[in-house]
Amino acid sequence: MEKEIRNIEKEIKSYSDSSTSGIEKFRINFVSKKSVINKIFEDFKNLSVEDKKKFGGPINHIKTLAKKKLIELSSIKEQVGEKKDLDFDYSLPPQDDTLGSRHPLRIVRNKIIKIFRDIGFSIEDGPEIEKDWYNFTALNFPENHPAREMQDTFFISKNPDVVLRTHTSNVQIRLMEKEKPPLRVVIPGRVYRNETVSAKSHCFFHQVEGLYVDKGVSFKDLKDTLYYFAREMFGDKTKVRFRPSYFPFTEPSAEMDIKWKDGWLEILGSGLVDPNVLENCNIDSKEYSGFAFGMGIERIAMLKYGINDLRLFSENDKRFLEQFKGIN
Ligand code: DAH
Repeated sequence: MEKEIRNIEKEIKSYSDSSTSGIEKFRINFVSKKSVINKIFEDFKNLSVEDKKKFGGPINHIKTLAKKKLIELSSIKEQVGEKKDLDFDYSLPPQDDTLGSRHPLRIVRNKIIKIFRDIGFSIEDGPEIEKDWYNFTALNFPENHPAREMQDTFFISKNPDVVLRTHTSNVQIRLMEKEKPPLRVVIPGRVYRNETVSAKSHCFFHQVEGLYVDKGVSFKDLKDTLYYFAREMFGDKTKVRFRPSYFPFTEPSAEMDIKWKDGWLEILGSGLVDPNVLENCNIDSKEYSGFAFGMGIERIAMLKYGINDLRLFSENDKRFLEQFKGIN
């Protein structure tokens, strides 16, 4: 028996096959009920008391040794397995080749952009971290004016002159400072407000801004353009209405509602660009006029797809996202 034990010990120590089948072989031979070690335990029962004293220790020793070796082989397999992964042929087609789907906000954003592109608008963007000048002052929000409080703003505490933009209207100023009319642009982007996150409000959301500045742009142009937009977006038969409103950067200002089921739903804010805003950008307000508008992408997506909770847009829940498969 002594020799047998020694042989087994040697075999265990020198065993090195860490492949899946190698490990299984080791387990059967040295650890399972049918293993050589188990057989020795069977024989052990029939030994004399003296021999039991002599072999008890060594037998337990090889039993522990075998268990440890099994763990060691498995961990080697894991490491080698990782190494093998490096040799993986990445040119092979993936096993799971399901395509993702476009995010509903992206679908709606693209649709809005296409509608305006078709009538000659180009696309611009601008910074989300913005100076007070672009987000407020140049847009005719006087300092300490209550209109600023309509938009709960995230300020950078070390420098209150820097904000997370509360709307995409900041890009109106950036563009008009840089380029002279005629200007005809849409500006999609993300905006931020210090609001409690709930089904109906969020600390960030998305807007599309529009700006058209040229000689002789009138309120009629604004109405025609936005009416065209509503029909393209929601269908030929869509009814709209304009309600007087107030924004510091437009005069006059209007909100546009669409008829939705039994009621009217607000879709966007708009107006003729306030002459002060043009002058802030060194555009002669006697020579030029313009209209502007801004709409929330989430709101339109919610209407179009019957989504009732704003939080769904940013939770990345596959069950939600997969429902937009195949829509472009
Ligand atoms: N910036 C406004 C908001 O976030 C929306 C808006 C209203 C934009 C009127 C415009 C406009 O360009 O003319 O509430």
